[in-house]
Amino acid sequence: MVEVSPSLLAADFSKIDKELNKVLRATNRVHIDVMDNKFVSNYTLNKMTPNLVGKCINFKLKPDVHLMVNDPSKYFESFVKVGAKEISFHFEAVFDPIKELRLLKSFCSAGIALKPKTSFKEAYDAVKESDFVLIMCVEPGFGGQGFMVDMIPKIKSIRESFPKKPIIADGGINNEIKTLVIDAGASILVMGTAFFKEQNKYK
Ligand code: DX5
Ligand code: ZN
Repeated sequence: MVEVSPSLLAADFSKIDKELNKVLRATNRVHIDVMDNKFVSNYTLNKMTPNLVGKCINFKLKPDVHLMVNDPSKYFESFVKVGAKEISFHFEAVFDPIKELRLLKSFCSAGIALKPKTSFKEAYDAVKESDFVLIMCVEPGFGGQGFMVDMIPKIKSIRESFPKKPIIADGGINNEIKTLVIDAGASILVMGTAFFKEQNKYK
């Protein structure tokens, strides 16, 4: 079963409770984008905090925490402490992805995130070690970008090699592109702009 994970990056934080209720009406997952202004130029550590994760859990939502930060292991414990059970970090952000994945696995379900230019081949061992994989379908950093169609073969190859592994597709997904991403083998679709900002069925 394919699930939608709305990205709070596109939510209106001035009415966050209302936004979380809207998520709850559509799904039981929520996507939290943590950015440090170093790994990516955007900064969200003022909003995407462990407290927000705790709040989502109080709303009975399952947060998947997407760390777009350098030195991600610095953040693992603070998110786990508030109840995060799925955390991913970027392959490109660490020196030894396998070592970091093993550390994260000692806390919770551990995901490896791949930027568009990172090939499945170079990240193969990390994908194998991971509990789930997150495929960026836009350059990480900002919501509202266009879906990169050349990510479809990458999702397909990972699905062929790992039939059971959860694959999160993240970035630029809307109701039109959705079927293509599902057919390629993604199991979780992150939707930011399409969920919170476009006039759609989730209203
Ligand atoms: C981008 C983030 C995405 C983003 C997706 O760096 O990782 O999760 O919020 O937003 P949309 O769906 O607007 O591309
Ligand atoms: Zn994300």
